[in-house]
Amino acid sequence: MNFTSYFKLVLFVACIGFFSACNSSLKNESILQSRKINFNEGWSFHLNDSLQDNDTISNITKWQDVKVPHDWSIGMEFDEKSPTGHGGAYLVGGLGWYKKSFKVAEEKKDKRIAIVFDGVYCNSEVWVNNHYLGKRPNGYIGFEYNITPYLNYGDVPNEILVKVNNKNQPNSRWYSGSGIYRNVWLKTTHKLHVGQWGTYITTPKVSKETAEVRIETTINNETLQQQSATLVNTIYYKGETITTSENEINVEKGSHKNVVQNLKITNPKLWSDVNPTLYKAVTEIKVEGETIDTYKTTFGVRAFEFDLNKGFILNGKPVKIKGVCLHHDLGPLGAAVNTRAIERQLEIMKEMGVNGIRTAHNPPAPELLALCDEMGFIVMDEAFDIWEKSKTKFDYGNDWELWHKKDLEDQILRDRNHASIFMWSIGNEIPEQWSERGAEIGRELSKIVKDLDTTRLVTAAMNPPIHIQNKEVTLQFEDVAAQPNALAGSGALDIIGYNYAHQTYEDHQKNFPKTPFIATETTSGLQTRGYYDFPSDTTKIWPVRWDKVFTEGNADNTVSAFDQVRTPWGSLHETTWKIIKRNDYLSGFYIWTGFDYLGEPTPYVWPSRSSYFGIVDLAGFPKDVYYMYKSEWTEEPVLHLLPHWNWKKGQLVDVWAYYNNADEVELFLNDKSLGVKQKEGEDLHVMWRLPFEAGTLKAVSRKDGNVVLEREIKTAGAAAQLQLTADRTTINADRNDLSFITVDILDKNGNFVPTANNLVKFSLDEGNGEIVAVANGDPTNHESFKGKQHKALNGKCLVVVQAGKTKGSIKLSAASEGMETETITLQLK
Ligand code: GAL
Repeated sequence: MNFTSYFKLVLFVACIGFFSACNSSLKNESILQSRKINFNEGWSFHLNDSLQDNDTISNITKWQDVKVPHDWSIGMEFDEKSPTGHGGAYLVGGLGWYKKSFKVAEEKKDKRIAIVFDGVYCNSEVWVNNHYLGKRPNGYIGFEYNITPYLNYGDVPNEILVKVNNKNQPNSRWYSGSGIYRNVWLKTTHKLHVGQWGTYITTPKVSKETAEVRIETTINNETLQQQSATLVNTIYYKGETITTSENEINVEKGSHKNVVQNLKITNPKLWSDVNPTLYKAVTEIKVEGETIDTYKTTFGVRAFEFDLNKGFILNGKPVKIKGVCLHHDLGPLGAAVNTRAIERQLEIMKEMGVNGIRTAHNPPAPELLALCDEMGFIVMDEAFDIWEKSKTKFDYGNDWELWHKKDLEDQILRDRNHASIFMWSIGNEIPEQWSERGAEIGRELSKIVKDLDTTRLVTAAMNPPIHIQNKEVTLQFEDVAAQPNALAGSGALDIIGYNYAHQTYEDHQKNFPKTPFIATETTSGLQTRGYYDFPSDTTKIWPVRWDKVFTEGNADNTVSAFDQVRTPWGSLHETTWKIIKRNDYLSGFYIWTGFDYLGEPTPYVWPSRSSYFGIVDLAGFPKDVYYMYKSEWTEEPVLHLLPHWNWKKGQLVDVWAYYNNADEVELFLNDKSLGVKQKEGEDLHVMWRLPFEAGTLKAVSRKDGNVVLEREIKTAGAAAQLQLTADRTTINADRNDLSFITVDILDKNGNFVPTANNLVKFSLDEGNGEIVAVANGDPTNHESFKGKQHKALNGKCLVVVQAGKTKGSIKLSAASEGMETETITLQLK
């Protein structure tokens, strides 16, 4: 055979392989699509606070069309008297009803049909055609109801009705949102099918050469006879078949069977935070050669341990967990789940170098976990903020006894195939931790987890179990912290996790010689983006004590964006990172918080309504400290200067630079050198102090005498023009996708105006799309997030446009008094 024909043969064989792999995976995809369809469209909604819990809806005449995921609270006015209080961002809850009509084709009569809710906040109750299906108090866990027995088929419509009771307030320490705020699905399967969360995939042995993959499948038989079938599990990598396993099975009528299959992957591609490689397992049930059910599971292959001396080891290499805590709200979009909005948050975190997410303090949206798998985050999946003892009057403490077991089991079953999850947290700052009861519950919860998953570590975000001697440090719960922490000593936890008390981290090996450590929550620094107090090198503790009313602070409820303000229980950003960085045995930390969130406006209360803790503000704009972390956690060259350069003549101003990949930074004011500075020892920034003079401030970073980066900030004149920048100008015409458009306010020469707070009005001139949110990151702002206009905060605001369903282009205009209207065109594809 000559070379050309040999080449042709190879190509031919490769093509056959390629097309058969594609074909089989395409076939599976279409079965999967029809198995679980999105059920978000066509809902009607009614909010009626006057209805008593036992009222029926027969007297409701006014229904509003809504699309779920839907959060009714986010569109409400901020109200100082709202019973949700500062925790709930002063927005209101209430009692809401949802209904939807749908038809089911005659040919589905022999199928099993279920409705799946990913999360409803809270106390949902569901009916189909007047049959009561059940209730679910927990607002964060997903659940499904089998609706097969109650359905009409053919032309007779069905009605589903959902009652959501978020009326009793307060029931949360942060903004929860209200309503069917996560996705809804309709699941249609054969009556012999893979159960709910019906696969469990683990990798008991992993090496470079080979990975053992154990797949446990639960098959339910809801038919009236015993069933014989073939169970096939096939592992795919990027659409290509890797390996497959087949078993003959018999399942008794009305029962289920768990089947274990062991497969092998040679030369596995390992999942890591930098290389998040994923495999897919496709489970098929075949009867007489015909596939009657297909179920897909994404999983990863990775080996890890928490070493007493070296910290977190992933695939044989130490990896420091550089994590952030996130609440579930999406800023101005509220709690309503949107995959792109979550992805944007995670992209912004990745860009800063973050490699870990803690889902504070509840089961997250499934979409967040899928994105963490795909993007490479080390997740601590948290279950509860409350056990038996409530923190707010109407919270989950009231449901604990009846529901905690089911809720925790469901979370583990739902989440245990995610490659990104490494730790289960059974609770956050649980009041019972100080008592024997806390130890008892801790052991009970740990057992619930371990009966379902032994491949991750169980932890709890405790309050510091170690008393801090240094009296300058005022701890939250200081009085009780002097007692031994019963949960820490209960044997329930595989890894000691506690919040704050960074002063004790370096004694960890002495205090807990046999248990590894994770700082479950740290820092709680406070900042308003773009606002600065001088001098910058004095630390402010705001509030002075956690349990004292805060009377200090700035009259306009701002907080300096220099890393100089912290809570009494927390630390400055630099302080905790230095300790974590210095000690290998500290596996890592989760900073409170990556993003600002709605509610908990510590140190202030009204008119502040959202947090100051974020490294990034509520609109998604980074605060300055973002660049400290970026300079430490990424290889990308960083030179970030703060503050802005618009001050009073002669005023003493501190200038900080965060930088990396360089030996020194030189600062110039109007071309005059103010000297070269170098970070010494553990320093994370350099600083100059100088009297303000208008003009150009310039910084140059150098390595070995060569310029690495240059940065310039100019004193800006009056606001004169708007600049619009979209994170993406092409989005999907799917009624879901979003474009986040930043408005920067510039002077006539194009300099950013760092103090501008002009009102900007938006309109969508053409095509199909919707303005779904506006924001500026100001925790005190009371303009509606759902409006079509917003003031800027320190030169910036944000507008979010959601795509319609028709392809083409849409044009967004932004107008502000005295300035020319600017437009930006988005393509919908
Ligand atoms: C922690 C708590 C968080 C948040 C934070 C604010 O104690 O776990 O939920 O309240 O304080 O600093």
